[in-house]
Amino acid sequence: MPKDETDIIISLRNLTKRFGDFTAVNDITMDVRRGEIIGLLGPNGAGKTTTMKMISRLLKPTVGEVWIRENGELELLTNRNKDSLLDKIGFLIENPTFYDHMTPKQILTYFATLKGYTRKKIPARIEEVLAMVGLSAWINKKVGTFSKGMKQKLGIVSALIHDPDFLVLDEPQTGLDPKARREIRALLLKLKHSGKTIFLSSHLLYEVSEISDRIAIINLGQIVAYNTMENLEAESKDSRLVIQLETIPSDIEQKKAQLEAIVRPYAGVNNGSNIVEFRYETRTFEIRFDGSIKNQKTILKELTKSDFDVINFSVPRTNSLEDLYINLVSEGAIGKLEDQMQEEVPVAME
Ligand SMILES: Nc1ncnc2c1ncn2[C@@H]1O[C@H](COP(=O)(O)OP(=O)(O)OP(=O)(O)O)[C@@H](O)[C@H]1O
Ligand SMILES: [Mg+2]
Repeated sequence: MPKDETDIIISLRNLTKRFGDFTAVNDITMDVRRGEIIGLLGPNGAGKTTTMKMISRLLKPTVGEVWIRENGELELLTNRNKDSLLDKIGFLIENPTFYDHMTPKQILTYFATLKGYTRKKIPARIEEVLAMVGLSAWINKKVGTFSKGMKQKLGIVSALIHDPDFLVLDEPQTGLDPKARREIRALLLKLKHSGKTIFLSSHLLYEVSEISDRIAIINLGQIVAYNTMENLEAESKDSRLVIQLETIPSDIEQKKAQLEAIVRPYAGVNNGSNIVEFRYETRTFEIRFDGSIKNQKTILKELTKSDFDVINFSVPRTNSLEDLYINLVSEGAIGKLEDQMQEEVPVAME
């Protein structure tokens, strides 16, 4: 990971957006570096689109700043310089809407011209980008006849028609079937390998984790984690230690509390949730811990010293990143729910 400041393409500093009393984006500070794919991941209503609208200046931040690199320097985005700074970025914000009577050729010519792309190169560029998403045959067809997925693909290529080095894509996968999602993932990776920087949002963990170098998890307007996949996975080491007993103990609740006391120091990200559970059908205690071998050893040592009739133990593999994501977005939601009872806050992932 490059640490050089000159690698920063865009810097969000204390970015905050309030709508009346409601804080949709709350004090976001993060950098995106050249050549990275950054995934902004969060449930519905988390603040992804609002963040991207502040980058594209469709919304003015209530507090905080957006800095964008221009001619080697980071420049503060303002109403005065927004045209020159933003022209070099490709945006897809929310679902694209196009006039039904227009064709991809007309639409893309319009966007390319608007963004100052060299006029005589436009026709070839249009053919190139339509080929990227398999829409070449539709170049002169009216958009009114397009499916939702085709419109979405057209939205993606209209963001990159002027060949920007930096792309901001709000849920580029929305409305696409699995095959098309895979095609777009491949396209985004190809763009990255050609040197582009991509900031994309999604509420789908898989879509983001497959291609992103770093993931920012947003919940209720706040970034609750921002790290590489590798580090997030290490942080989220949410392993289960399963111990099987010879018989069902008569004092389960007591035994559970005893186990909890042993394990709590090693509970990792699950420190707050149920760290010990008993399953009658298998006579097993399921213990959640941070997954480190060192702590696993300590827990087992403690257990052998205790009066548990252990006949077997195992560490089944789990999808820890998904657990981490759900933990992060639901824990935050519960805390905030108490503050904002009137708001309906979705916590579930699709
Ligand atoms: N113009 C607005 N006025 C009032 N509230 C708004 C406005 N725009 C967004 N919000 C609120 O801000 C919160 C964040 O919305 P935002 O659209 O940024 O979420 P999102 O993460 O993009 O969600 P989704 O995955 O559903 O697209 C939501 O609670 C939304 O209702
Ligand atoms: Mg959105």
